[in-house]
Amino acid sequence: MTIRRPLVSGNWKMHHDHIEALHTVRDLGLRLKAEDVARVDVSVHPPFTDLRTVQTLVEQEHIPVAIGAQHCSDEDAGPRTGEVSPRFLARLGTAYVIVGHSERRTLFGMDDAKVAATLRAVLRHEMTPIVCIGETEEQRSRGLTEAVLEEQVMAALSGLPPEVLGALVIAYEPIWAIGTGQAATAVDAEDACVFIRSLVTKVGGDGAAERTRIQYGGSVTGENATDLMAEPNVDGLLVGGASLEAPAFTDIIRATGACYRS
Ligand code: 13P
Repeated sequence: MTIRRPLVSGNWKMHHDHIEALHTVRDLGLRLKAEDVARVDVSVHPPFTDLRTVQTLVEQEHIPVAIGAQHCSDEDAGPRTGEVSPRFLARLGTAYVIVGHSERRTLFGMDDAKVAATLRAVLRHEMTPIVCIGETEEQRSRGLTEAVLEEQVMAALSGLPPEVLGALVIAYEPIWAIGTGQAATAVDAEDACVFIRSLVTKVGGDGAAERTRIQYGGSVTGENATDLMAEPNVDGLLVGGASLEAPAFTDIIRATGACYRS
């Protein structure tokens, strides 16, 4: 039995204004029963403008989900027009921050150095980073998956002490699987997660790697969640489209919990 508690995270990307967020999280709160979250951690990652609304609702109604952000600055304050400080997120009770999502990397020029700096900024404020890595379709077809993952993991994690590594979340999100309806097979996801865990071992030893949670993301649904979560090294799911509506997201949370029932 693994010592890692699974984490199911809903990345809303640029969907749902704060009113829609309110409805979605309230709906989620009505659906989630104590048994659904007894063995699973859940986080929701709304747009920045929704965070305060979601935080207030979650606290008032004791909804069993953690607050997550989708990105933040690597600096705490300063002339950074349009950026959001990790300090502000921590102040809001944010527990998790997605760092280096492939959309930030490809659309907004976030390079490995920026990912490493942002990850450290999140840690400075005692939040948990969800560090995203993954290969493109072209890299996969050229047999470069492991090389790409190694470069991304080493750039982000090198130099972090074992206790910090053990508390991290890494999300394996193959870019070809994001928003395409074509999820990785459970076996491919498992192979990638095993490889990523071996990289964490390289950086911080077995003790750390045994505790690091590694999520899979890319076209996750209530249907494929069970197969993915049945794999021993897949410790959770980072869900885009299927996290936008409470019924579908609840199905994924329940499928995850069912895999962890002893
Ligand atoms: P989809 O679940 O919509 O494929 O998105 C995955 C993702 O990018 C989550 O961060």
